[in-house]
Amino acid sequence: GAATWEARADLVVVGTGVAGLTAALTAHELGLRVLVITKASAEDGNTRWAQGGVAVVLPGQHDAGDSVDRHIADTLTAGAGLCDEAATAGIIRDGPAAVRRLMRLGAAFDLAEGGRFARTREGGHSAFRVVHAGGDATGAEVERALLASVRDGRIPMLHNHIAVQALHTPAGQVAGLQVLDGDGVPGVLRAPAILLATGGLGQLFQATSNPEVATADGLALALRAGAAVADVEFVQFHPTVLYTGAGARGRCPLVTEAVRGEGAVLVDAFGERVMTGVHPLGDLAPRDVVAAAISRRMVETGTDHVYLDATHLGGEAFRRRFPTVHAACEAVGVDPGTDGIPVAPAAHFACGGVMSTVDGRTSLTGLYAAGEVARTGLHGANRLASNSLLEGLVVGARAARAVAFDLGAGLLGDPRAVEVTDLPAALVADRQPLQDAMSRHAGIGRDSAGIAAALSALESSVHRPLRTHRAVEDAALALAARALLTAADARTESRGCHVRLDHPGRDDARLLRSLPLRLDVSGQ
Ligand code: SIN
Repeated sequence: GAATWEARADLVVVGTGVAGLTAALTAHELGLRVLVITKASAEDGNTRWAQGGVAVVLPGQHDAGDSVDRHIADTLTAGAGLCDEAATAGIIRDGPAAVRRLMRLGAAFDLAEGGRFARTREGGHSAFRVVHAGGDATGAEVERALLASVRDGRIPMLHNHIAVQALHTPAGQVAGLQVLDGDGVPGVLRAPAILLATGGLGQLFQATSNPEVATADGLALALRAGAAVADVEFVQFHPTVLYTGAGARGRCPLVTEAVRGEGAVLVDAFGERVMTGVHPLGDLAPRDVVAAAISRRMVETGTDHVYLDATHLGGEAFRRRFPTVHAACEAVGVDPGTDGIPVAPAAHFACGGVMSTVDGRTSLTGLYAAGEVARTGLHGANRLASNSLLEGLVVGARAARAVAFDLGAGLLGDPRAVEVTDLPAALVADRQPLQDAMSRHAGIGRDSAGIAAALSALESSVHRPLRTHRAVEDAALALAARALLTAADARTESRGCHVRLDHPGRDDARLLRSLPLRLDVSGQ
């Protein structure tokens, strides 16, 4: 039915990860009335699971020869030709200031001797420039510091509220949101600006590094609202999540790439190195290259995992440097001091998403996006490790400033004018079969027949009103799957994390660009 409760704000932020909380804090500082909503509790998103760190070149604290320009160059190389160079440079140049701001909010990064930042390396980085906290608990510290500041600022937050659809003014501006509260009661949030900071879509696949909540909600909401999206075929698989047995489903513990940054190597079931002869950076090649190499080796050796050998570090040093990974290993009876850590690739990060500028503006007036849900052009066809916390910090703050500017300039819609409709109906997927089809056909290797098979698996989705949180999520998964498969079908080449077994080469002559996604979303 229509709304039974209402709330008002200048800016509604959807999501409580690094991008959303940064935006909320910045907008609050600028004097905007901010309302934050999260569909679960505030700590439940992807941010707190981030391990490796924040990629940033800080003045006076970098390797000889490293520079912001080299960080930009490494990002463009990892992105396999599809990064937007201006956006990339803009975001990365803002990194040092964003990290300083986060430290003023109380985030404590690990320090080396002499009080300088401890720095590590990850795949695709040509220098040690990833700063971290709590060893391998960077995201948890970032989330803690931001959330404490949001609570100190008494910025209102609604928990267990899920966004169902954007609401438009008669002139077509977005100026509200229809939501379900924790009891499933529909309500309306009226605001001239809505920021999507809803994160990613790892739950589209069987095994993922992402928590339960990563169900593509923002991407689907934006598609239904008519926003432009791009690069959704590029889903990054992390090369190494902990392998806990055949048929693992849902969130698998991450084994941070920083373990390889500290010298660990990948070996197969026969003890042979996986990355020898594959790439000049060896075990620290860009992530798409490592994940694809592991996936090939697993096929060749008839297994479903490989091993990460970190025994050179010694058990005690491993535990100190990687407490999160160590605890996850311990829980499954693996001792990284003496054993190879069983690992396999799993869905990790959506490189594409809602088209947005580095200031978070989307193609729709009143709708903004930041963080993983957004496609700014920083990641291209394959995100460089540890660039995503950075992007959330930078674009989150910039989006808040953009909202303040647009509001002051009278560019936004009047929330009193939004038309409140009934709760929509949409195609709702059966989650488990969808995850199975996506993992089988739209994971690291894809081909035309598999994509067609996955699309036809979607046909079993049923049309239902979005009256429950679960229905909203399963409708988002269905629509995101269709978007991903449509985009994957159109990109008849292999580039970055999009690997087409039937089109193994790169086609720079035709496809060196983001392809516009054409999708009829009526009834979806
Ligand atoms: C990791 O720690 O390996 C993940 C870092 C990232 O995804 O950027």
